[in-house]
Amino acid sequence: MNPRLNTGVVGLPLPHESARGHVSGRAAYCDDIPEPVGTLHAALGLSPVAHGRLLGIDLERLRALPGVVEVFTAADIPGPNDCGPIVHDDPILADGTLRYLGQPVFAVVATSRDAARRAAAQAKAVLRIEPLPAQLDLRAAHAAADWVVPPMHLSRATHPGGVDAAMAEAPHRLSGRWTLGGQEQFYLEGQISFALPQDDGGLLVHCSTQHPSEMQALIGHALQLPSHAVQVSCRRMGGGFGGKESQSALFACVAALAARRLQRPVKLRVDRDDDFLITGRRHGFEFDWTVGFDDAGRVLALEVTLLGDAGHSADLSPPVMTRALCHIDNACWLPNVALHGYLPRTNRQSNTAFRGFGGPQGALITELILDHIARHRALDLLAVHQANWYGTDDHNVTPYGQLVEDNVIAPLVDELTGSAEYAKRRAEVALFNAASPVLKKGLALSPVKFGISFNVNHYNQAGALVHVYLDGSVLVNHGGTEMGQGLNTKVAQVVAHELGLPIGRVRCSATDTSKVANTSATAASTGADLNGQAAQDAARRIRGRLAALQAAEWGVAAEAIAFADGQVQAPDGRTVAFDALVQRAYVARVQLWSEGFYATPGLHWDRATLTGKPFYYFAYGAAVSEVLLDTLTGEWRLLRADLLHDVGRSLNPALDIGQVEGAFVQGMGWLTSEELVWHPQSGALLTHAPSTYKIPTANDVPDALHTRLFENANVADSIHRSKAVGEPPLLLAFSVWLALRDAVAAAGAPGCQPPLLAPATPEALLRAIDAVRD
Ligand code: MTE
Ligand code: HPA
Ligand code: MOS
Repeated sequence: MNPRLNTGVVGLPLPHESARGHVSGRAAYCDDIPEPVGTLHAALGLSPVAHGRLLGIDLERLRALPGVVEVFTAADIPGPNDCGPIVHDDPILADGTLRYLGQPVFAVVATSRDAARRAAAQAKAVLRIEPLPAQLDLRAAHAAADWVVPPMHLSRATHPGGVDAAMAEAPHRLSGRWTLGGQEQFYLEGQISFALPQDDGGLLVHCSTQHPSEMQALIGHALQLPSHAVQVSCRRMGGGFGGKESQSALFACVAALAARRLQRPVKLRVDRDDDFLITGRRHGFEFDWTVGFDDAGRVLALEVTLLGDAGHSADLSPPVMTRALCHIDNACWLPNVALHGYLPRTNRQSNTAFRGFGGPQGALITELILDHIARHRALDLLAVHQANWYGTDDHNVTPYGQLVEDNVIAPLVDELTGSAEYAKRRAEVALFNAASPVLKKGLALSPVKFGISFNVNHYNQAGALVHVYLDGSVLVNHGGTEMGQGLNTKVAQVVAHELGLPIGRVRCSATDTSKVANTSATAASTGADLNGQAAQDAARRIRGRLAALQAAEWGVAAEAIAFADGQVQAPDGRTVAFDALVQRAYVARVQLWSEGFYATPGLHWDRATLTGKPFYYFAYGAAVSEVLLDTLTGEWRLLRADLLHDVGRSLNPALDIGQVEGAFVQGMGWLTSEELVWHPQSGALLTHAPSTYKIPTANDVPDALHTRLFENANVADSIHRSKAVGEPPLLLAFSVWLALRDAVAAAGAPGCQPPLLAPATPEALLRAIDAVRD
């Protein structure tokens, strides 16, 4: 590109394309779409038992209720009654067996949302049920060998005698058992679908979803319609966080079924409590672990059994467990590992994707184990980490066989320990604790290494469609969805950069299955990586055609022509405005729109052995957190957090810092305040609203939050050498939980191992404090 011109659109800290709309309330979400006359509203009748046989439904009683137009059950679904993304074991409406308390059994369609909800609330009165014993205990389900998919085993040994020999020969060994809770996505916009019958028996479905193409396919499947008759559109979501990767499907299918049968527009918007009761969330895990290590705290052998609470069906649990297994190493080279992943079936909501997709659960158990090693050896946790980092020339192959080619964890952590004054503050915390019997401080550093790509190879593809109009404005459509993360802003930046336009000339429109076909979910943090490359491909094709036209006119090489600042320029300085060239190209009958495509190169994965190269590259980060804990009440505060995160060469540092901080706070909520409680007998989720389920608020963000992006360029040929940012920084919150464990340990004898669970609620903290004080 001509050095005299520099667009600089990529890399600028531009605001989110909808920022003003978000704060002013003008950004339109699914529920803001004007309702045509005749729109009906659906509500779901839910199972009142965790397990039972459905003997009958008193439909006449429901139909007689005020405002009710029709009631649908599983029997009304013309195709398979299934909305499962992988294994086809997810009924849209319960059929015969009730699998969890909250499972949708019937859909009431009424003239108002209120009437529909009032009728649906009669579920208990109209359902005839024979209750069955419910499985509500993850370990018991595991003992009964009732898993949603077969067990997964991942092992690697560098010791000639195998993992067992390495374990047996290790100078020290520790074992433990640990419980880690799940987490509700708590997207601010709940699940919603609005289906409108179209010409020729087709359907247009506005759906708050991360996966419009899958919604299209599942609706088509259930209604026995070809995909070309089903159009799914999503302008934006008010958050998804994984909860709308697969689980928007039930709502999309029910709204579509009702709209098709009644030939009226039907909207289904569930309220927060029902959303909690119907949909799944992050998997809670149980772990059993044994580690063998040397005097320096180097891990010689690690064996972990992971039980992930799948709930009643498989949903995305298999790839979630795969990712958990592939993230056990985190930033640590593990020479000998044996990992066993199980997904027991329980009579609960079916758990699903949530920011990190099993990665956080896998990585956290290793961080906990390293903390055990550090306390056992009276070493600082940081020193134990340093003894275990992946190497750059050796010690650089993951347990699943991928070469780590971009390792920056050691320099990144060195930079962070410097800027966060880790050593000095460690000494200060010790001094404070020595003088303070009730209030205790804790300090911890935790690292992140996070593999980027879908761990199902073929999902790593994307398409885009770019239109250049005659006024020189550009409309971009790509397969990704906007959920607040800023994907449309980043993709618009990429296209503006290619065409040398100011950002205001480029706009991304709603994601729509009629524009780009067969898209993947916007997930695995790959939105900008995949769709950015596809949009770049499309824009380059158009630029190439424009450059060829102008080059012929000027008698220069097409490659020598620069596009910048809304101008097109030859090396000798001759310049033409972009829109003038576009108009000439139109008259010359040059195609001014293009499709683009991208498939991540070099990935391979063997599902049988769990080996291969599942990730295009890794993103790194580290955090230092300091907490103050009241050992009498279990209350605590985060005093300071220092985050240093690797986003490669940032496409947009403002959005990236927002993602890093948002993920950190969301991770902190998971590990400290967000507790899920199911009634031990009935299986009812008791924490199904913000009154009982506590997500962090602005008040929980520490005054001293120091967030920086690590100077780095992606070694892999990613879009402008950037790195994915959506999920990896969630793991930075490990430092908060570890700092709390550190503060609890300060209340006990040196070398104690606080039996702290996660979430570390005040109650859990008090239990751990009591245990170490005994
Ligand atoms: N940020 C906001 N504001 N809202 C969201 O729903 N989802 C997260 C992350 N950041 C989310 C978010 C999750 S789970 C993923 S996988 C990525 O964004 C998806 O978007 P990306 O691939 O474009 O980063
Ligand atoms: N992340 C999110 N969704 C997925 C993945 C993943 O790694 N694999 C399959 N679906
Ligand atoms: Mo994110 S959990 O991959 O939607």
